[in-house]
Amino acid sequence: MQIGSYVLPNNVFVAPMAGVTDRPFRQLCRGFGAGYAVSEMVTSRKDLWHTLKTSRRADHTGEPGPIAVQIAGTDAEMMAEAAVYNVDRGAQIIDINMGCPAKKVCNKWAGSALMQDEPLALGIIEAVVAACAPHGVPVTLKMRTGWCAREKNAVRIARAAEALGVQMITVHGRTREQGYKGSAEYETIAAVKAAVRVPVVANGDIDSPAKAQAVLAATGADAVMIGRAAQGRPWILREVAHYLATGELLAPPLVLEVCRALLVHLQDHYTLYGEYTGVRSARKHIGWMVRGLVGGEELRARINELEDADAQWRAVSDYLQALAQSHERWPHAIALKTPANEVETPREL
Ligand SMILES: Cc1cc2nc3c(=O)[nH]c(=O)nc-3n(C[C@H](O)[C@H](O)[C@H](O)COP(=O)(O)O)c2cc1C
Repeated sequence: MQIGSYVLPNNVFVAPMAGVTDRPFRQLCRGFGAGYAVSEMVTSRKDLWHTLKTSRRADHTGEPGPIAVQIAGTDAEMMAEAAVYNVDRGAQIIDINMGCPAKKVCNKWAGSALMQDEPLALGIIEAVVAACAPHGVPVTLKMRTGWCAREKNAVRIARAAEALGVQMITVHGRTREQGYKGSAEYETIAAVKAAVRVPVVANGDIDSPAKAQAVLAATGADAVMIGRAAQGRPWILREVAHYLATGELLAPPLVLEVCRALLVHLQDHYTLYGEYTGVRSARKHIGWMVRGLVGGEELRARINELEDADAQWRAVSDYLQALAQSHERWPHAIALKTPANEVETPREL
């Protein structure tokens, strides 16, 4: 699996998720076997580049390459400038967001809504590819199957995007209108794969090794991308990669391995966000990880009350050390998906 000149270790990717796939989470996922991790979206609005939120999103210190940054916006020139801004800050691949139900900005809808306005969508792609070409930076596209059930234009956009120089296309098997409701469908992803020569990545509702294999078989896609199923269970990435490579199921991780990884993850959080925000933003990751485990709900309730990093870190460490006394391997927990109404609608575009 290759994007431009970047050869990836496997074809199992973690999906960009605003508010989730920050640098610490991307590194956690890479450590648990993700072949590729794209950043949370970065706004194309220049006036927001210097906000703490955006500058943290453009910080790639210590991140293993290739560093891929997703940009979002509604104006071709601004998107081209945003691409160069991020390339100057270390981005090696630029991904254009046409997949996320983002909010309205400047009287235009961004993200997957761009699929409704093909000339605008293609204008953005053309401008971003032209801006990245002198830097030798490949441009990729993430989109949905279309605007609504009657307007599934993913194949048309994919063909045009390829002609404009896009080097990989990810398709989430839902329309924009669907949001996160219903089930992802894979026929449209298969049609996109059949229509282009660049690598195609299948995304949507992949939550097990068997599902990943079935989606690859149904679509002919080159890779799978996993979002919500990696929340609190980042090792699903290596489980899927192992299964695709060998046909065998990997044993769950050792509790002590998860313990080490989560404690490092928490420290990364505190370092990136500072104590106040870091403690708060780490809560969801801890909650996801212990959901369904004995004592997990009590830990989650306790964590929500703790405000200092030391106390949070220690509470998690004590819980996981105790778990390791009774379980060598990670116990089966409730599979979790972010409910549709909890998916973050990005505020900054
Ligand atoms: C919390 C959350 C935030 C998301 N943010 C983004 C984003 O910034 N950019 C994007 O292209 N997709 C975003 N998505 C969509 C995911 O990348 C993915 O396409 C979608 O969740 C379907 O995959 P899944 O069923 O494996 O979760 C987000 C999804 C979630 C749950």
